[in-house]
Amino acid sequence: MAQKRALITGITGQDGSYLAEFLLEKGYKVFGITRRTSTPNYERIKHIQDKIELIPGDLLDQQSLTSAVIISDPDEIYNLAAQSFVATSWSQPVLTGEFTALGVTRMLEAVRQVKPNAKFYQASSSEMFGKVHETPQKENTPFHPRSPYGVAKVYGHWITINYRESYNLFAVSGILFNHESPRRGLEFVTRKISYGVAKIHLKEADHIVLGNLDAKRDWGFSGDYVGAIWMMLQQKEPDDYVIATGENHSVAEFAQEAFNVVGIKNWSKYVKTSKELYRPAEVDFLIGDASKAKKVLSWQPKVSFKDLVKMMVEADIKLLKKNSK
Ligand code: NAP
Ligand code: GDD
Repeated sequence: MAQKRALITGITGQDGSYLAEFLLEKGYKVFGITRRTSTPNYERIKHIQDKIELIPGDLLDQQSLTSAVIISDPDEIYNLAAQSFVATSWSQPVLTGEFTALGVTRMLEAVRQVKPNAKFYQASSSEMFGKVHETPQKENTPFHPRSPYGVAKVYGHWITINYRESYNLFAVSGILFNHESPRRGLEFVTRKISYGVAKIHLKEADHIVLGNLDAKRDWGFSGDYVGAIWMMLQQKEPDDYVIATGENHSVAEFAQEAFNVVGIKNWSKYVKTSKELYRPAEVDFLIGDASKAKKVLSWQPKVSFKDLVKMMVEADIKLLKKNSK
């Protein structure tokens, strides 16, 4: 059988790096789109860089996306690239719309024009549920986004379904709840906490400043979630799936568990809060129902909340020790 070919946008990001590893292990030829930066930004993929092919491109530039599809001639396309930080979407709402919403249409146009029989995955988000209309949230729960990012993701979700219905593309959308790892960006709350706790443990800092400690999220492990993404493209019929653990915890609980890893029980002594880190409109409570993915894709998460927190704190302690040498 011919070697399968995959094109990943957002390959330098958290999920892109795990997905590239996953596909290489399955024997794929992996291509990734990267945008031009003055300093290369390949930290998460440097260990596999000699095994993958990087193609320059940007979600803002139709021509570069179309060329990337021509060059890679993919069987499967994973559209993971986005302006993915919710807080930034209020300070850069137009850019967020260009990347996270219209960027999806640009990718879909490239697929439609160049390789309409390729399978297409869109990275949709639980942030689309926002001010939740039911609990737990599933595939047909109404959307009520609470940020320019969430609104852009709703557009990306529906344009994917629209291209499926208009042009008969195999285009699917995965509604993924929060997923984390030691490769998470430092601005997201879980990594901010794991990195902060590691610094406090190594006596490089004495506190962390956070925003809303009461928000609750359904946190899973990114390495588990890329398997579900791949499974969605292996089905006979295109369809959309919620991917989640079905368990949620508050930011405070995450912090408590992270301090627990380094033996600190009176964790609140080390956490300050700032109103400046509160969001103009908050998503208070997310918890997903992934029973469809369990039934159809035979997917379920492997890493527990406790193990995820431990993995992240221990990785940051190791990283800081290495950097101080
Ligand atoms: P991430 O770490 O922030 O990675 C985002 C990727 O998008 C990076 O590779 C980034 O490239 C790339 N990118 C951004 N703007 C681009 C542009 N204009 N042109 C080309 N590439 C661009 O995000 P992630 O956590 O891996 O998430 C992957 C996707 O899943 C995103 O679409 C996110 O919105 C969605 N999602 C994530 C979660 C989650 O909990 N992680 C949950 C639901 C949905 P640079 O390295 O150059 O910045
Ligand atoms: N980032 C951050 N920093 N968030 C904080 C902080 C802080 O100091 N303090 C409290 N929070 C709260 C936020 O207000 C939010 O309620 C929660 O922690 C999680 O914030 P993030 O980690 O930034 O993630 P997110 O839930 O907004 O978005 C992530 O998950 C989405 C899926 O639901 C991102 O990965 C999105 O790209 C993804 O779509």
